[in-house]
Amino acid sequence: MLSVMAYDVARIRSQFPSLDFGWAQFDGPGGTQTPRAVGDAVASVLTGPLSNRGTIGESEVRAEETVHGFRLAVADLVNAHPAGVVHGRSATQLTYDFSRHLSRDWAPGDEVVVTRLDHDANVRPWVQAAERVGATVRWADFDPESGELPTDAVTSVLSSRTRMVAVTAASNLIGTMPDIPGIAARAHAVGALVYVDGVHYTAHELPDLVTLGADFFTCSPYKFLGPHCGVLIARPELLETIVPDKLLPATDVVPERFEFGTLPYELLAGVTAAVDVLAALDTEAAGAAMSRRNRLVASYAALHDHEDALRVRLEDGLAELPGITVWSRAARRTPTLLMTFDGHAASDITRSLAHGRVLAPSGNFYALEVSRHLGLGDDGGLRVGLAPYTDASDVERLLDGLRAALS
Ligand SMILES: Cc1ncc(COP(=O)(O)O)c(C=O)c1O
Repeated sequence: MLSVMAYDVARIRSQFPSLDFGWAQFDGPGGTQTPRAVGDAVASVLTGPLSNRGTIGESEVRAEETVHGFRLAVADLVNAHPAGVVHGRSATQLTYDFSRHLSRDWAPGDEVVVTRLDHDANVRPWVQAAERVGATVRWADFDPESGELPTDAVTSVLSSRTRMVAVTAASNLIGTMPDIPGIAARAHAVGALVYVDGVHYTAHELPDLVTLGADFFTCSPYKFLGPHCGVLIARPELLETIVPDKLLPATDVVPERFEFGTLPYELLAGVTAAVDVLAALDTEAAGAAMSRRNRLVASYAALHDHEDALRVRLEDGLAELPGITVWSRAARRTPTLLMTFDGHAASDITRSLAHGRVLAPSGNFYALEVSRHLGLGDDGGLRVGLAPYTDASDVERLLDGLRAALS
């Protein structure tokens, strides 16, 4: 039985040296702060014996083990096979790569579905790949009033010619979490593949690729306490069917076939450390003799409760302030709030908050279609995101700062 103190935010905050600088960081959806354990893992792998992968020297074996450890950690995080874990420089780079690999066998008349709820990283690569081969792009719209992306908004644009459905598991601008299993089931029924952007989702929800039904899933460790890189996960059997260009001496083995050049071993070690920190967010899970996946399940449940309580307090506090429109309204959403202000530019409010060392940036955050579809043009709004280290005093500082800025 887990105790009520399972989520000890003070213990968690003590793991983040950067919080000593005194800022209340609400910019987690743009990138989280980094725990000491992640920095230590990067430094220790980089400065320990380390050379290219191999089996003879200690430095080679360490490189090999680091790659292996990274694939196991990500596989635990998303409930997938380690041989389906592909490292990339960023989710954007991976999606561009895979849009090019996959579109090679598309033909004029084939169709690709993208949504207006997505970050541009899961829109433009598909639109541009479709344009190159003469395929048709079908758009699925969310409802700007409710923030919902109804499942039938996606399924109604499916056809027997649909090759790919690209959809986000959570909007980085307004937090909406569409019904990915429902969308995936219908997409598979017409023979399409499903490419899920899990970059924002993974910071708040524990992915389960089996229940989500995603054929491809991307996430970015720097959004969940890790270093700056991206990861793509797919079934190894599916990856076997995709043949990218490659150097002659480079391996054809999956998943290495998609990882061009030498891997950044130190970053891979950092990703593993980040997954271990996530698995220990719940105090009791941290020391429990259970699988890392089960510790992740317990820790994400505790994180959920923590973030939900803060979000409710934040929303109640916002409701008492004049002239704020909150655009994050979907029934299922992450604790990420987009707001605009009567008579004030969001960027001015961001600057005002910064006087009190509260960071809540403004913009469209590359969710360009979302911002435009909400009627906010390219300006977007001020975005507040909660992270594992956010505490109640951060929320009060934000509310106090908003009150001062709007008065
Ligand atoms: C939902 C979402 N998708 C994709 C991206 C792009 O991620 P990366 O920086 O790893 O390319 C971001 C980054 O903000 C994001 O929030």
